Amino acid sequence: MGRLNQKVALITGGAGGIGLATAKLFQAEGAKIVVTDKNAEAGKAALNALEAGAMFLSHDVTSPDAWKSVFEQTIEQFGRIDILVNNAGLLKTAPTQTLMTTDLAHWRAVNSVNVEGVFLGCQTAVRHMKEKGGVIVNIASVAANQSTPNLISYGASKAAVAHLTKSVASHCLYQGYPIRCNSVHPNPIKTAMGDELMSQMGGGDPVAGWREFEKVKGYGGAGEPDDVARSILFLSSDEARHTNGAELMVDGGMAIRVS
Ligand SMILES: NC(=O)c1ccc[n+]([C@@H]2O[C@H](COP(=O)([O-])OP(=O)(O)OC[C@H]3O[C@@H](n4cnc5c(N)ncnc54)[C@H](O)[C@@H]3O)[C@@H](O)[C@H]2O)c1
Repeated sequence: MGRLNQKVALITGGAGGIGLATAKLFQAEGAKIVVTDKNAEAGKAALNALEAGAMFLSHDVTSPDAWKSVFEQTIEQFGRIDILVNNAGLLKTAPTQTLMTTDLAHWRAVNSVNVEGVFLGCQTAVRHMKEKGGVIVNIASVAANQSTPNLISYGASKAAVAHLTKSVASHCLYQGYPIRCNSVHPNPIKTAMGDELMSQMGGGDPVAGWREFEKVKGYGGAGEPDDVARSILFLSSDEARHTNGAELMVDGGMAIRVS
């Protein structure tokens, strides 16, 4: 029997990277999968990497109406939602993102996806799960646990995700809702977003960036999408039934680096 047998899981930003790796692993563990993404073309293509039965829904996580529609369509298809993985994320919208090069539009774009999207997801999920129970996993970042002077909006947005996670967990606990909510904190992972980050470190060349990253002592090396997916699986399964409001680092130890 799979670790998520017969569970229904909704994974946002699942067209590639960590979201798609999570969808594959969840399917292998017996879950029924709904993958959503703003990028409909990539999302539909991602279905080819999954077993039959998975559903893709076009979804902008910043839209309250889209959240309502995605939940309604999922429930129509599968009857319920047991697991929500708030994975969709945006690194940056401009080449540099320091305090002085970040304008308000840029700040809002990142925070709208990374914070408001997760807020809307948690609110919609809790509304649906409060009687029958469920699990929410929010994808934060090691950036939530360190200063990020070159990614000013992203770091702040991921710290907000970590904090929001604890408040959602606490809200459910005090209301008596059988819902757990935890956050996962990866360091650079080999995905499109990881390449985008390393392109900055490598002066425009992601391959050079990854090479430089691997050389820095204490950064923990690059992770694979599957490394993160396995932690998401643990938190989503009943094995984590006593883990709530936690920050699970999946960062090779980067957050404990001595500088
Ligand atoms: N890759 C890394 O180095 C890394 C490290 C730490 C945390 N993370 C976090 O992991 C999560 C997954 O990232 P990834 O590395 O797989 O990156 P990715 O770029 O491969 O995936 C992110 C997905 O989110 C989707 N998305 C963006 N805006 C959206 C919106 N408004 N609505 C719906 N979907 C939207 C994108 O289309 C994309 O498919 C993100 O939250 C990211 O911040 C990634």
